[in-house]
Parts: sequence; C-alpha cells; structure tokens
Amino acid sequence: MNIPSQMTAVAIVQPGGPQALQARSEPLPSTGPDDVLIRVAAAGVNGPDLAQRRGHYDPPPGASPLPGLEIAGEIAAVGKNVTAWRVGDRVMALTNGGGYAEYAAVPAGQVLPTPDGWAVAEAAALPETWFTITQSLVMRAGLTSGMTVLAHGASGGIGGATIQIATILGARAIGVVSSPQKARYARTLGAIATIDYTSEDIAARALELTEGRGVDRIIDVVGGPMAEVNLAACARGAHVVQVSTLDGAKATLSLRTIMAKQLTLSGSTLRPQSSATKAEIAARIRRDLLPALEQPNIPKPAITCFPLADAAAAHQLMESRAHLGKVVLTTQFGTQF
Ligand SMILES: NC(=O)c1ccc[n+]([C@@H]2O[C@H](COP(=O)([O-])OP(=O)(O)OC[C@H]3O[C@@H](n4cnc5c(N)ncnc54)[C@H](OP(=O)(O)O)[C@@H]3O)[C@@H](O)[C@H]2O)c1
Repeated sequence: MNIPSQMTAVAIVQPGGPQALQARSEPLPSTGPDDVLIRVAAAGVNGPDLAQRRGHYDPPPGASPLPGLEIAGEIAAVGKNVTAWRVGDRVMALTNGGGYAEYAAVPAGQVLPTPDGWAVAEAAALPETWFTITQSLVMRAGLTSGMTVLAHGASGGIGGATIQIATILGARAIGVVSSPQKARYARTLGAIATIDYTSEDIAARALELTEGRGVDRIIDVVGGPMAEVNLAACARGAHVVQVSTLDGAKATLSLRTIMAKQLTLSGSTLRPQSSATKAEIAARIRRDLLPALEQPNIPKPAITCFPLADAAAAHQLMESRAHLGKVVLTTQFGTQF
C-alpha cells in the first residue's frame, strides 16, 4: 500500500465554535511498535469532540491534539510487535485522538474487525460509545439479563449504544427523549418504552413502567437536577452511571435515599484510561457483543454523513440537538469501501 508523508486532517486552530475546525495538510502520525496505522474511510463525531473543540476537554498526555475518537477503514501498516492484524484488514477502532484525518495510528488492542453487514460509516459510529457503555454499564455496573435500564439522551450516540447493548444482553431499555420522532428512533434500536421529558415526569413514568419497582441501572448524560430525578426512578439496589453533565456538574442529592434504596453512583471518562484497559474493553465487546452485531436483523444507528472538510457543519448539527443517532465524517477513501 502506498503511504504518503502528508495527509488531510482537521485541526482545532483555537478553542471556540465549530469554525475552529479547519482541514489542512498534516504529517502522518508515527506508528509505534504496538500500533497499527489505519487508512481512515470514516470517523465518528462524539460529544467529547465538541467539548475538546470548545477547550473544555484537553487530550491526555501523549495523545494526538487532533480531534476524533473513533474510525473505520483498513490497516495500512502494522508496528513491529503487532501480530493480530495485517495490511488490508477492514477494521473499526477507538483512537486516542486524531480520528478526523486520512490516517490514524492506534494501539493494536483498541482495534476490532468491522462487523459483517455494517457499512464503513456505520462501523465508524460504534467504538467510542460502545467502549464507554461496555465498560461503565456492563463491566463496572454489572448489567445482566432481566434488568431494566433507563437511558438518558436515548436518540444520541451514548443513549443509542445503551439501548442496543442492554437489548443484546437481555435487559430491557427505557429511553428518555424530547420528541415523538426521537421516541420512534429509540424504539427502532430496541427500547421497550420511551419517556418524553418535555411532557412526562421521568421518575413517575419509570416507576409506572416497572410496576412501582423502579429501574435497575441508569446511564445519565444530563446531570444537574437530573441526579435527584434519577434517585427517585431507581429500584432498590440500583446503580446510576454518570457519563456526562450536560445540564450541570453540581447536584443536590438525598443521601438518605441513597442509603434507604442501597444505591450505587459511579462515573467515568473513557479517554484518559490506559491502552491496556481499552484493550480489555475491546476483548469484552468482541466476545459478548460482536456476534450479535453481525446478525442480519440487528438495528443500525441512524447516520448523517459529512465530508471530512465539513467537520464544522457536523459539529453544528450535533450542537443543534436535531440529529438522530450518529454524525460521521467521510474521507476520500470512504467511497472505496
Ligand atoms: N464519559 C465518557 O467516557 C463519555 C464518552 C462519550 C460521550 N460522553 C459524553 O456523553 C454526552 C453525550 O454524547 P453523545 O456523543 O451521545 O452526544 P449526542 O449524540 O449529542 O447525544 C446527546 C443526547 O443527550 C440529549 N440531551 C439531554 N440534555 C441535553 C443537553 N443539555 N445538551 C445536549 N444534549 C442533551 C440529547 O437529546 P435531546 O436534545 O432530545 O434531549 C441527545 O439525545 C456528551 O456530553 C459526551 O461528552 C462521555
């Protein structure tokens, strides 16, 4: 494979609005002995990219300063210690940054095969949210078959991954949405019910849908006042997982409710974690979720694609909250898949 020395990539020229994203020529990233170099066909856009662009979520030490946490494409080169992948393999990967580019270097353990039946843009939309939810909800909060999960932001990336992973593992997902259209979308992904927070009381409806018991697990991206609502929606022994604080990082909580219901509250951010941890999550996805992703009737997230050079427009769409599912950037290589 002919590998150039320069590529087109999107950089954050200075922290700020979407116009801070500019396509320019950049040197290819260097491929370490434990890395693979991926020729990127498509790169998913995620909430953390918006935070990074605004200057609120700096890359961890050693990570690429370019945005982009997930990609799909093909292996262009492998580091000298890598035996699991070969040039030409079709893959999707969780990057440590630098996904908005024509080439990205990724630790080999963070790479997964593209699921059979998934278009490259669909595969690019999986890793960031599926790694996040697999770790926080499945590995840490112990989601198992038969549980009921409340997914906030159900029409977005994290909420959609929560619904799909819960459904694959035999749990029941209830999606929290803001419109009938978003409710329909959450149901196509597998939600057994939805709650429209613009017209319904989330906790009351969650109790009603669980015959008064409450939900067993909650994935929350909202935070702020939602923290108290979550406690009211919880069953005894439930676990609330905080993965973002879009409506506020501070909350007033009833500690008495946490004690009386024997609740667990946890939180996590994926990006700063080690490559070894990310490789453990990848292995778990490969074992427990990938076979289900390859079933012909599996629902796919809705995708809106933009060319790489239009990354600013992609961020604007995410910020408008009008999107369903995922927003994806495609490179010049996207048409070859
Ligand atoms: N902790 C981690 O490791 C991790 C990993 C990935 C993402 N995240 C975070 O998770 C959040 C969601 O990411 P995403 O990629 O799923 O984004 P997304 O696709 O834009 O989804 C966000 C969802 O949240 C809902 N929402 C509710 N309140 C909101 C508010 N105040 N502002 C914006 N949206 C709101 C939106 O729907 P409605 O407008 O219909 O309510 C939308 O469905 C982001 O903050 C991101 O940084 C954290």
